[in-house]
Amino acid sequence: MAGIHSVLVTGAWRGIGLEFTKQFLTNPDFRAEIVIATCLVPAEAKDLLELQEKHSALHILELDVTKFDTFNELVNKVQAIVGHRGLTLLINNAGIGSPMHKLESIDADRYIAVLKTNTVGPVLLTKALLPLLRQSASVNAARYHDRPLSITRAAVINITSIFASILQTGSDKTMEKVRAYGYRESKTALNMATQLMSRELEEDGILVESIHPGFVITDMTAQLKATTTTETSVTSMLKTMLDFSEKNKIGFRSYDGEIIPF
Ligand SMILES: NC(=O)c1ccc[n+]([C@@H]2O[C@H](COP(=O)([O-])OP(=O)(O)OC[C@H]3O[C@@H](n4cnc5c(N)ncnc54)[C@H](OP(=O)(O)O)[C@@H]3O)[C@@H](O)[C@H]2O)c1
Repeated sequence: MAGIHSVLVTGAWRGIGLEFTKQFLTNPDFRAEIVIATCLVPAEAKDLLELQEKHSALHILELDVTKFDTFNELVNKVQAIVGHRGLTLLINNAGIGSPMHKLESIDADRYIAVLKTNTVGPVLLTKALLPLLRQSASVNAARYHDRPLSITRAAVINITSIFASILQTGSDKTMEKVRAYGYRESKTALNMATQLMSRELEEDGILVESIHPGFVITDMTAQLKATTTTETSVTSMLKTMLDFSEKNKIGFRSYDGEIIPF
């Protein structure tokens, strides 16, 4: 397999984002030459700072995905790190959950914050990083004439959720019970944005896909009975992501490769 030159992971301080960072640094099947882990407060990101002591490939940058006016500054820093080869892979992982409220209890500020973090942030960040993704697609073009779309050429992976599926909204008790207004719409909207971007950017050689990580044991699911470790989730997602090669029209992928209907 051709290796991944550079990857940027958002929300890398803990949970799934931290595990992505670890695996891009240490898993021989997915190791990247440059790993950019972004988080809200780098000085406090103890696990990332410890990883950086052992891995010179790791760069830690500050990023709040809702502070859109900081994105240009971030892009300049990323450009300085990745150089002429551009950015190979962007993983839009940062996200926040919603309380499981009934309609009458929705709090407007939280509702808007969830949509801003989970939907608007990833789309605008992708927009800001597009020149660097295009650069990667172009530098790698010759190697990919028979398989134009790949996470090792140029790609954006949006971390979505099975709760985004409209078809499965009430398919079983859990799906029915998890009302999470805000969160569920934010991921459904992210899936639509993924579809739009994947169609628009295909001609540039940039793959855009969304993937559900499973029901993973992290702070986000602390009140729930999650069953999958971050390590299993991320290893499976990476294997599944390696097979992504064309735009997907019927649904989005689960970490194990299964297609979840829109
Ligand atoms: N866990 C699951 O079962 C599950 C299932 C489906 C989908 N997902 C999705 O997977 C992704 C990762 O979730 P997780 O389970 O790892 O959750 P988590 O442990 O709560 O981690 C979320 C990460 O996002 C960061 N973050 C939150 N708001 C941010 C902002 N405005 N700007 C930048 N970073 C921000 C957090 O930073 P701080 O630590 O600094 O707050 C944290 O590092 C999310 O998109 C989530 O929706 C998770």
